[in-house]
Amino acid sequence: QITDKKYLVGFSQCTSFDSWRKTMQSEMQRELSFHGDMQLVIKDAQGDNDAQNKHINELVEMGVDLLIISPNEAEPVTRSVDQAYRSGIPVILIDRKTNSNFYTAYVGANNYKIGKIAATYIASLLDGQGKVLEIKGLKGSTPFIERHNGFRDQIKAFPQIEVTEIEGEWGGEETARKRFVELMQGGNSFDLAFAHNDIMAYAAYESYRELSPGGSLEIIGVDALSGPGGGIDYVTSGILKASLLYPTGGDVAIQIASDILHGRPYNKDNELVTTVIDSSNVHVMRMQTNKILAHESDINRLAERIDQQRVVYKNQQYILYVIAVL
Ligand code: FRU
Repeated sequence: QITDKKYLVGFSQCTSFDSWRKTMQSEMQRELSFHGDMQLVIKDAQGDNDAQNKHINELVEMGVDLLIISPNEAEPVTRSVDQAYRSGIPVILIDRKTNSNFYTAYVGANNYKIGKIAATYIASLLDGQGKVLEIKGLKGSTPFIERHNGFRDQIKAFPQIEVTEIEGEWGGEETARKRFVELMQGGNSFDLAFAHNDIMAYAAYESYRELSPGGSLEIIGVDALSGPGGGIDYVTSGILKASLLYPTGGDVAIQIASDILHGRPYNKDNELVTTVIDSSNVHVMRMQTNKILAHESDINRLAERIDQQRVVYKNQQYILYVIAVL
């Protein structure tokens, strides 16, 4: 439902079935409660490039003032993003990129760096030698390309580390788990698995536990989401050896959207922080993220109350108007 807010912002999300994307969207909604003049319309492409192209065109036709886009795969979605940008609509890319430079701002952690940090951490865990399984994200998406390149560029320095790759496509059951099981049933064994996200890392953990009870495979993921069933939980309980923090940037995207729409200065590239979370720092991280989660739910409750008050106020105004007319 479109309201009378001054700015209409369209968000083309590549998929939203997982908690990381749901967190991104709730961060956006929360930040929006501080920006009373913006309304957000979200379209979820459910991992389908064609659907995403269609959504981007539809949002342009709706006359959005700004577009936020997380492109499913770079190449197939680049054209419609470029077209939207060229038509004069500011475009903020979030988490995933396209193949071109036609965007107004980008928000996300540096995925190449994440790959490199993971390699350095793994090389030190393994003392420079061992068998590593890389469980990769979706081929055409830029976080996969960058995490993979960063990882490969850095692990090269350790010739005694042998890397095998499988395609996990960012997913659990159907992809990462299935291919991991096939590989293990083929008689392969590894010292460590580096999955490009915690969903695939968890899928590897579960299937490994079933296939090799008592085995010693160490597993590392990316995302380190807070809250139940997130990477921070997995590291706390020892399911994962480590997870690299990959903030969603939902709140930052809305702040930048507001800056752009109001003509305030903004940066084109907005790099979010990353860090390794393992047993050495997970407790501090957990304390902090729990505090943030509590603050967030307070903010959400306040925003709801303000909305209710707005409705009451509008009704009162209407009653006053009716009385005046009578
Ligand atoms: C969620 C996700 C994250 C990953 C990111 C990469 O949909 O797969 O787990 O870090 O997307 O774009």
